[in-house]
Amino acid sequence: MTTPCDMLVFGGTGDLALHKLLPALYHLHREGRLHPDLRILALARQDHDRDQYQKLVERHCRAQIARADFEADAWAGFSARLDYFGLDATHSAEFNRLARHLGRASQRPRVHYLATSPSLFTSIATNLAMSGLAGPDSRIVLEKPIGHSLESAESINETIGRVFDEHRVFRIDHYLGKETVQNLMALRFANALFEPIWRAGHIEHVQISVCETLGVENRGGYYDHSGAMRDMLQNHLLQLLCLVAMEAPVRFEAEAVRNEKLKVLEALKPITGQDVMDKTVRGQYAKGLIGGQEVPAYYFEKNVHSDSDTETFVAVQVEIDNWRWAGVPFYLRTGKRMAKKRSEIIVTFKSVPHRLFEEGERNRLVIRLQPDESISLQLMAKTPGKGMHLEPVELDLNLAQAFHTKRRWEAYERLLLDVIEGDSTLFMRRDEVEAAWRWVDPILQGWQGYHRKPSPYPAGTDGPEKARRLVERNGHRWWS
Ligand code: BG6
Repeated sequence: MTTPCDMLVFGGTGDLALHKLLPALYHLHREGRLHPDLRILALARQDHDRDQYQKLVERHCRAQIARADFEADAWAGFSARLDYFGLDATHSAEFNRLARHLGRASQRPRVHYLATSPSLFTSIATNLAMSGLAGPDSRIVLEKPIGHSLESAESINETIGRVFDEHRVFRIDHYLGKETVQNLMALRFANALFEPIWRAGHIEHVQISVCETLGVENRGGYYDHSGAMRDMLQNHLLQLLCLVAMEAPVRFEAEAVRNEKLKVLEALKPITGQDVMDKTVRGQYAKGLIGGQEVPAYYFEKNVHSDSDTETFVAVQVEIDNWRWAGVPFYLRTGKRMAKKRSEIIVTFKSVPHRLFEEGERNRLVIRLQPDESISLQLMAKTPGKGMHLEPVELDLNLAQAFHTKRRWEAYERLLLDVIEGDSTLFMRRDEVEAAWRWVDPILQGWQGYHRKPSPYPAGTDGPEKARRLVERNGHRWWS
């Protein structure tokens, strides 16, 4: 069980708090993981009293939590922890009011979770310091994206760093809380099988695909200034890439793991000049069909500019300039309104050195994060009957089935518990975030410089045609 603390959720009426954080805290409460004295104080601009806020949370949580997991007693206990405080985070005087509400004398550690727009990060941190709420026991949690460029990320990190030492800053990337992502580390570093062949000599190429069927939903205002590169690739996909490509850390602990991820980010071959045109693809969804229903084009979405050229799809060919990976293409792609929701890492091995049989597919390791969590290895096997006819078959490890007695944790459950316990292994360090921006910035600038408009793709497809050509010109194809 964790220590008692106050968890302050800024942006307490926003989607993230209502759809992810509070349901995750409810699950932790129900499983007895939270200290009985842990209090949750949601903060936002709206006027709500405690009772109204608890009802609002209940309504949203009921929609998010499986019926069997929503128990009246557990809910009563959880909502007793919940309180609400109306505050305009841009007004410093309001933080003094907040400090009085919390009781300055209280020695309880505090977790400040900033589930707000990144534009508020620095003013909240400064106001917390000014009102005495950022003492040595307090932590701050920042949601991605941290900034929209290297310069803005540095500036945010700098200001936050003046208030909170690095070990008290938790930069969350919820992909790192997903079970299969952590399983990737288990697969690589707890099994002797793969490590000897996990390198350029044996691996032909790697694909990391995070495809969504959803559009931008209610987040058009944010998304239109962000796009797929800043929203997904700069963080989630690069973090997945790091876990696939990193060396084994000496220990499974925060600094050791993050040092190794940083080395990968620093070894990414810069994409500049003409390479921006050759090695990246931008797309934007046009109208199309999702599950048989017609959906509108991106630029008709709420709060999106009618002549927006924000990308809702991006594909990039990445190279890692180090001894282990030189020459191995890593293809990264992510998009909204694609044909199927799936997040997968596919490692394709080189073919056998000498072919004995007519058929010969390459071995593939498929690590699936979503919709189901599984790891499968594609091997060649002989089909029954006369002759040597081979077909690829899958050696399947369905993680949900293998551990069917255990409830699968949502990413935020694991990560919130880590924050409360002060374990930052699965959070991004300042230098990691900045290294990622250092690599991404020239691509964003190149798109601007070359006036690279996104190519349209019909909603419900695999993205623009150019993305197919990106891999096919190297003799590869997107795996599906
Ligand atoms: C968020 C992005 O970080 O991740 C969203 O801002 C995206 O645009 C979401 O939809 C995807 O997360 P998941 O866990 O559903 O794959």
